[in-house]
Amino acid sequence: MWQSGRDFSLICIKENVDAILQSCLQHEMNQPGTIGEPDTPFCRMTLSGEAILDTSAANEVAKELGFHHRCQTALCNTLESIADNLPSSVDNQQCLSVARRIFSTVRKAHEFEERTLFPLLEALPQPVDGLHDSLERLRFEHWEDESFAEEVSESLREYGAGGNRADGEKLAYMLRGFFEGLRRHMAFEAEHLLPLLQTGTATQRS
Ligand SMILES: [Fe+2]
Repeated sequence: MWQSGRDFSLICIKENVDAILQSCLQHEMNQPGTIGEPDTPFCRMTLSGEAILDTSAANEVAKELGFHHRCQTALCNTLESIADNLPSSVDNQQCLSVARRIFSTVRKAHEFEERTLFPLLEALPQPVDGLHDSLERLRFEHWEDESFAEEVSESLREYGAGGNRADGEKLAYMLRGFFEGLRRHMAFEAEHLLPLLQTGTATQRS
């Protein structure tokens, strides 16, 4: 069947996003807590007794952070396409499907960051200006985002099930508030936290 350019683009975006979300789900099933355990060792001892950040472990953490960012970015893109099509053209099944994934996607990312990434960064011996305050702010944003994720999920579920059809504009506004905040949060982490992992040379207190 012939599709307009815009419709075809939306289908392509949806297929890509579905593939990424499926990959996120598979990852969760295959590797429960592989990197997320609090006692994961990130340092090795030198002959002089100095604890050195394990570069390969730091790279694994950086890769895991990238993975969670891709999952959340795919989620944001899906929510944006839904918001763009509200209130006139909405795929009910897509609303219901995404509603089921929102909380678990952000929660998995937060668990990884709070149990693995942040403790690793907090253990770096060279003080990083403002790091402690930044991590506290990110933790608070996690809490806010999880609370917001539950609200968004409930509203999408209701809308997808055929309720609150008059509130399409309100739902679009809510979706935009959620994914724009999440994108800003990830951008900060990519800009300010990832470089600390990528240096791979920082020493860690024993
Ligand atoms: Fe985060």
